[in-house]
Amino acid sequence: MSAPPPAHAPLAPEAVDLRTRFAGLELQTPLLAASGCFAYGQQFAAFTDLRRLGGLVTKGISPAPRYGNPVPRICETAAGMLNSIGLENVGVDAFLADKLPFLRDLGVSVWVNFFGTDFPTYVECAERLSAGAGAGIDVLEMNISCPNIKHGGIEFGTVPEVAHRLTKACVEASSIPIVVKLSPNAGDIVGMAQAVKEAGAAGVSLINTITGMAIDVRRRRPRIATTYGGLSGPAIKPIALRMVHQVARALPDLPICGIGGVMSGEDALEFLMAGATTVQVGTALFAEPGAIVRITEELRALMGELGIADVVAAVGVLEAIPPEVPYVPA
Ligand code: FUM
Repeated sequence: MSAPPPAHAPLAPEAVDLRTRFAGLELQTPLLAASGCFAYGQQFAAFTDLRRLGGLVTKGISPAPRYGNPVPRICETAAGMLNSIGLENVGVDAFLADKLPFLRDLGVSVWVNFFGTDFPTYVECAERLSAGAGAGIDVLEMNISCPNIKHGGIEFGTVPEVAHRLTKACVEASSIPIVVKLSPNAGDIVGMAQAVKEAGAAGVSLINTITGMAIDVRRRRPRIATTYGGLSGPAIKPIALRMVHQVARALPDLPICGIGGVMSGEDALEFLMAGATTVQVGTALFAEPGAIVRITEELRALMGELGIADVVAAVGVLEAIPPEVPYVPA
């Protein structure tokens, strides 16, 4: 029988230090709003105190505006949500002119998710965001994991050599650190993380949605117009945790932002313990726009209860796991 974990004296919640570092950035908490679940932030100001977030990640931005996919493009599923928005967004110019000033003034870290439909437009997007942002963007989160568009997105997110080349080209075009958002639909998640790390990525966001489907049996139709969409929410949390853990073990120097069904402080702590140093909250925001502030306080209270003084002390700390669980790529 393995030894019980050591007891830690509880701490008052106010004694818990939630600051964290990610790819050279200092964040006041590890909790960020996930891309696609918080638009460009403004609409949420009426519901929550945005200055209390660790940061926020914008909806994916492309060089030109996009209307996205036909409706219906979102539906609820058991313990989750299926979406096929199709990366609707205002485009680089309108983003820099109309959305970024608001975000910059919040004083929290600003991550801009971006994409293109081919190599040149990915690079163009990284270059124009980087050139136009002044000091207003902290991280460019490169989206090679959206399952809902015909060209771009996950098209570049399943083959490590392709992801490597695209990451390298975008890193060279940008003065802002690039974090690559990877897809659980990629067979070998560690191989993908390794490829983008070697290309100069400052970190990885794990994971985007998993391709899925829902059917309205009475109407004999898929519930979303594109038939398939991306599944998010608590249904995917165990998969996300497994992937974060595998990448953290294989590449301990690579900063990881964990994503996937975070609904509570305990969920967030699971991601930290798996090896993430920041955590994004997404699907929860559709039902509860103020979820991140609640989750922040739950995380602080739970860390206090468990005697964990700061985020660094939580990251990657798993008691009693066999040291050499083999990693077998799919
Ligand atoms: O369809 C969408 O806009 C989803 C984007 C994503 O998963 O990155």
